[in-house]
Amino acid sequence: MATKIKAESAPIREYLAALQRYADHEATHEGATETAFSNLLAATAKPHGWMLIPKKPKTVAKKVRIVPDGTLLDVFKLARGYWEAKDTDDDLDAEIRKKIEKKYPLTNTIFEDTRTAVLYQNGTECQRYDLRKPGEVADLLNRFYDYTEPDYLGFDEAIGEFKVRMPELGAGLAATIAEAHKKNKKFQTAFAEFFELCQTALNPDIRQETVDEMLVQHLLTERLFRTIFHDDEFTRRNVIAAEVEKVIDALVSSSFSKKEFLKRLDRFYIAIEQAAETIDDFKDKQDFLNTLYERFFQGYCVKTADTHGIVYTPQPIVDFMCASVEEVLKTEFGLTLGSQQVKILDPCTGTGNFVVNLLRRVPKEDLPAVYANRLFANEVMLLPYYIAALNIERAYFDITGEYKPFEGLCFVDSLDFVHDAQPSLFTKLNTARVERQKQAAITVIIGNPPYNANQENEGDNNPNREYPILDDRIRATYAKGTKATLKNKLYDPYIKFLRWATDRLKGEDGLVCFVTNHSFAIDDPPFDGVRKALESEFCKIYFVDLNGNVRRNQKLSGTTHNVFGIQTGVGISILIKKRKSGRANVHLHVLPENSRKEEKYAWLNKTIGYQNVRWKSVRANVRHDWVVLSGDGAFYSFLPMDVIDKRGLFARASTGAKSNRDEIVYGFQRDPLAERIEDHIELYNRDVDRFKRAPASSLAAFLSKSKVKWSSTLKLNLKRLRYAVYDTGDLRHSLYRPFTKMWLYYDSVLNDRPGLFRYALPVGNPDATNLTICCTNHSQSAFGAVVTDLIANEAIGGRAGTCFPFYIYDTDGSNRRENITDWSLKQFRKQYADKKITKWDIFYYVYGVLHHPGYRSKFADNLKKSLPRIPFAPDFRAFATACKDLAGLHLDYEKLEPHPLQFVTNDKPLSYRVEKMKLSKDTASLRVNDSLTLAGIPPEVYEYRLGNRSALHWIIDQYQVSEDKRSGIVSDPNREDDPEYIVRLVGQVVKVSLETVRIVKALPAEYTIPMAE
Ligand SMILES: C[S@@+](CC[C@H](N)C(=O)[O-])C[C@H]1O[C@@H](n2cnc3c(N)ncnc32)[C@H](O)[C@@H]1O
Repeated sequence: MATKIKAESAPIREYLAALQRYADHEATHEGATETAFSNLLAATAKPHGWMLIPKKPKTVAKKVRIVPDGTLLDVFKLARGYWEAKDTDDDLDAEIRKKIEKKYPLTNTIFEDTRTAVLYQNGTECQRYDLRKPGEVADLLNRFYDYTEPDYLGFDEAIGEFKVRMPELGAGLAATIAEAHKKNKKFQTAFAEFFELCQTALNPDIRQETVDEMLVQHLLTERLFRTIFHDDEFTRRNVIAAEVEKVIDALVSSSFSKKEFLKRLDRFYIAIEQAAETIDDFKDKQDFLNTLYERFFQGYCVKTADTHGIVYTPQPIVDFMCASVEEVLKTEFGLTLGSQQVKILDPCTGTGNFVVNLLRRVPKEDLPAVYANRLFANEVMLLPYYIAALNIERAYFDITGEYKPFEGLCFVDSLDFVHDAQPSLFTKLNTARVERQKQAAITVIIGNPPYNANQENEGDNNPNREYPILDDRIRATYAKGTKATLKNKLYDPYIKFLRWATDRLKGEDGLVCFVTNHSFAIDDPPFDGVRKALESEFCKIYFVDLNGNVRRNQKLSGTTHNVFGIQTGVGISILIKKRKSGRANVHLHVLPENSRKEEKYAWLNKTIGYQNVRWKSVRANVRHDWVVLSGDGAFYSFLPMDVIDKRGLFARASTGAKSNRDEIVYGFQRDPLAERIEDHIELYNRDVDRFKRAPASSLAAFLSKSKVKWSSTLKLNLKRLRYAVYDTGDLRHSLYRPFTKMWLYYDSVLNDRPGLFRYALPVGNPDATNLTICCTNHSQSAFGAVVTDLIANEAIGGRAGTCFPFYIYDTDGSNRRENITDWSLKQFRKQYADKKITKWDIFYYVYGVLHHPGYRSKFADNLKKSLPRIPFAPDFRAFATACKDLAGLHLDYEKLEPHPLQFVTNDKPLSYRVEKMKLSKDTASLRVNDSLTLAGIPPEVYEYRLGNRSALHWIIDQYQVSEDKRSGIVSDPNREDDPEYIVRLVGQVVKVSLETVRIVKALPAEYTIPMAE
């Protein structure tokens, strides 16, 4: 125990002397005076085993970070106190109030302004001290260092606090482990063996941090399992825990006492344990475990929570799915959950919710045999694995009065089961369990596979694991069946589980019941390939769309409308397989998009199982669309824009240029872009050199040291040691967004997927010309279409879309041919009995139909989910002629005389420079800058829309000075050579909009007649 700090001690004398010096120099601001108190704390903390960490950020709520001036950590890296300095001239009380509002911790916190210190402990102010009196400084410090947090009284309070403190406790342990990696030989040996086990058993590419996390999970929670569930034997009895304990034992040394560290948690543990004593209902304890499961990962290891989908399944969903499985077994196969042929697996068991629920449904007389031989569950993370074991074993005990280990539970990666030869899986017992599961003829697969919610780009460095065999299966089935060029969504974890589960049934009769992301059932493309495969692999498909897709409908909120509280839409699929049956019948039930999550839970509870659902049958069409659309079936009788089964308008259609690094390869000005590209190529080429010299190192580690922005294709290029070569010929004009032209460096190294324009506007022929209709057909956007003679960005309307060029060339620029098929020309000539119809007429006709207001509104839903289809309108020429003018307008907008807007100026010197333009509330005027406003914008302008924005909104959005946060690259649309360009563009786009609205309104109202045979 450290001795008390005395008033005459050296640190206090030095502190007071420093204050005097500051006073002599009239330095009163915090920046100057805080050094004195910081030195005082640093010196006095040491004998207490504490350390002062200046400006250590702390997260106090979701996305809310504070930075106390000082945080005092103990030897376990746990925060024991905080210090916040204020200016001598500040009103200290007002400053404290502000900090409290910002959620500064008040557990043991000093606020001071060099005159007064206010000490808060346990949430309340406990005393004020005069810092000019040495005795009071000593009292303050002694009380500060003596403080230990009081025990919590209530269970709820303790759990609440435990959740909040989890990240900090985890980080403390992680730091201890990091130290042991460096210094503790015994630990290093034990860890190396354990790490090897993890590599063979869980993931060959497993990272050290992941294994460290496992140790933390074990250390922090193992005591709770022992005490709350009275399972003293837990670590000995659990086949995995025993193995982890060996490594923990090695961690324990003179520098790390597990008991000492965990003592810090006593006040949580004791309160939780005492309160748990008074809880009779096991269900309440399970609730605690569920909370622990989610909070631990979300608080402590966010990346793991994301890649593994750590979230428990809400009970109404589990109930509905388990009841449905029971019903399907009965109605389709005449079996029960207890039947011998029924072997059930939850491949991603989390807390074991599904297994616990099923145990309660199995006929009692069959339960022992089912539990021992016919029920299986897998989990790949340590903490949920423990929790599942506890939950399932306890549920069995509750029903039968007998404790029996659940031998069906494996600590393993389910998706590895595709490998025939399974390596040793941690322990003999676990390997034996896995082997037994492998031999079992599984007939029911039920569960909630993970989804990767936040993985937005490769640069996140949090990629999902690759499974070569399974990925090949996806390529051969789901990817083969889609016409989409972008297929990466087919490798999302939940799709992998779908593929894996279908194969795991091994051709047996059976069923798969999953709750997943709903995209595979509703979005198009590339999921048409998944639906196509499922239609042929199962005989009956039932899909409940629980909706809640916040990304598609931004009026929804994840918390309010989504059953998991997430942004991604959710659905339950029941896929029934019978060996001797043909193509699947598909049945759908869609819950209203705007219904709240409680309403969805209530529906699930009331419906009980699939038998009570009012299903709608869906006749799958050529695009394997399952959605009951609000348009009508007529849509599918129209001509497809792309070629399906040899019929269709455009032979080749694809996305525009997709770079995955737009901020680097696009620029408003040519020269700065060229310079940036040369720099980036140099960076990348240097990385190729570096990679050549270090081929054995892990790619993730290599990339983490790089400044290049990585994407999947660029990584591939790196692995192939492919250098980038700068070529001015690759600097091309492009249409980035509607009416927004930019320079694009269009090569095949820095552009992840250059797409169709290598054939539409090939670099090999600078004279090559073309026109392309670019459509935005995306679930999160209203439909939009725009024609261009330039290379188009893949998300020209803000979301991924599809481009239809008039011509196709070879990449060297030769061999120009028309991309509109002869088949379609024949259809049009026959339909209108007019041999003079040309392919250019068809091109403009299509452009016209795509702008027709009646067509757009009737098929709005279809156009979000499918590529457009083109009806025969009664008056072909009316469309073709009017829309040739429309296309001309959209192509040559820069040549138009601008609409005469009113220039409102003031006494400031007139400038045309744009930082960010802003519309007035009534949208009638546009503020260009401080000196200029453009007034008199007619309201009809906003009727011309491209996707989710009007044309004018697009240019307001695009023509602004902005900075890319990651790279610091600044995009400035102002032109030195033509300062009035943007202001003129505004007038031109107003003109284009008005003219477009006029032409479109004059189109014939009728846009469809029955299709010719
Ligand atoms: C959405 S949660 C399941 C929740 C569970 N139904 C419950 O209510 O507790 C998904 C679980 O699958 C596990 N998991 C993810 N990938 C896995 C894999 N390849 N093999 C086995 N388990 C996996 C995760 O660790 C996570 O616990």
